Amino acid sequence: MESAEASFAPRPLLRTRLTARFGLAHPILSAPMAFIAGGALADAVSQAGGLGLVGGGYAGLLPGEPELYEELPLLQGRRHGVGFITWALQQRPWVLDELLGSFTPTCIMLSFGDPRPFAQHLHQLRIPLLCQVQTLQQARLAVEAGATAIVAQGQEAGGHGGARSTLPLVPELADYLARQSPDTLLLAAGGIMDGRGLAAALLLGADGVVMGSRFVACRQARTALAALQRIIQANGDETVRTTAIDALRGLPWSDVYSYRVLHNALTRQWAHREAEARSMYGSWSERYEQARMNQDFDTAAVAVGEGVGLIDDAPDAQAIIQRTVELAALLLGRGTAQYGLPGKREDLG
Ligand SMILES: Cc1cc2nc3c(=O)[nH]c(=O)nc-3n(C[C@H](O)[C@H](O)[C@H](O)COP(=O)(O)O)c2cc1C
Repeated sequence: MESAEASFAPRPLLRTRLTARFGLAHPILSAPMAFIAGGALADAVSQAGGLGLVGGGYAGLLPGEPELYEELPLLQGRRHGVGFITWALQQRPWVLDELLGSFTPTCIMLSFGDPRPFAQHLHQLRIPLLCQVQTLQQARLAVEAGATAIVAQGQEAGGHGGARSTLPLVPELADYLARQSPDTLLLAAGGIMDGRGLAAALLLGADGVVMGSRFVACRQARTALAALQRIIQANGDETVRTTAIDALRGLPWSDVYSYRVLHNALTRQWAHREAEARSMYGSWSERYEQARMNQDFDTAAVAVGEGVGLIDDAPDAQAIIQRTVELAALLLGRGTAQYGLPGKREDLG
């Protein structure tokens, strides 16, 4: 591991409290995406100078989830985080205990539920807790839980999320933390796809970003080829937030969360019929699981954010990180007057 890290030394371009606290070259975390973010992706992101998070997802509640004890060894000791969907982990808390018995993650990220029941154990082990939140109220709970960092997730995000948007949520939480808990780091998530998004997030008061969708389309992600093709072709008008899919497949998500996915035959069929889908709770569970296994993305969802319109390739994770930080550093260095003219970016050089 030492020699692998020594052979590639990412050049820091943007120093923030996040890079200092976690010893990173770049203020970028890859999101712990269920099914998508395995050990290979986390490893590539960490090797490139960010911090890769492995998706612990539903803690094994769903069939076919990647096994953490197979994914984590792929990191060969390199630094990484692991993220869980909190309400699912609450049903299967031993998964975290077993994980912490065998591995030493750099951090644990909890999203979608009350993090407090898990906090003390993590504090005892001195493992930083990251809490992904969608509201100010949830941020308060995260502070109470002693989170090292709060991830402010806007509704632009791919996968599950809430109702508030990145642009106002991040500065509101930055102000809140400055008043109430100035040592708590703030990360922005939702719609951050490139250097423009990273620069914007830092200007809004974040110490770094969590990027998900951008890494769905990369060489090291566990994304099915048929899903990848849809992602590369789609524009940002083609995603939707829906609660119908979780109702039909019988997953007990609270209705404060919805699921951002690419439009497909299923989302069109169930558009504006969410109450009806709820009344049919779980009736599609087998059909949906079959479609997922068969990579039938007319039925199974392709989870991706509104930023999908900014994705037109599936490069190496390292290339994504490099071009993101380079452009962000350029934009931040040159000031906002020249921002927003992608076609004229060469003028900036
Ligand atoms: C395919 C996919 C799966 C996701 N799965 C999870 C998950 O299991 N746990 C979680 O905390 N967040 C999950 N997320 C949300 C991310 O943590 C993050 O908030 C989001 O990707 C950020 O927005 P972006 O997609 O616009 O980059 C997922 C996102 C995507 C795109």
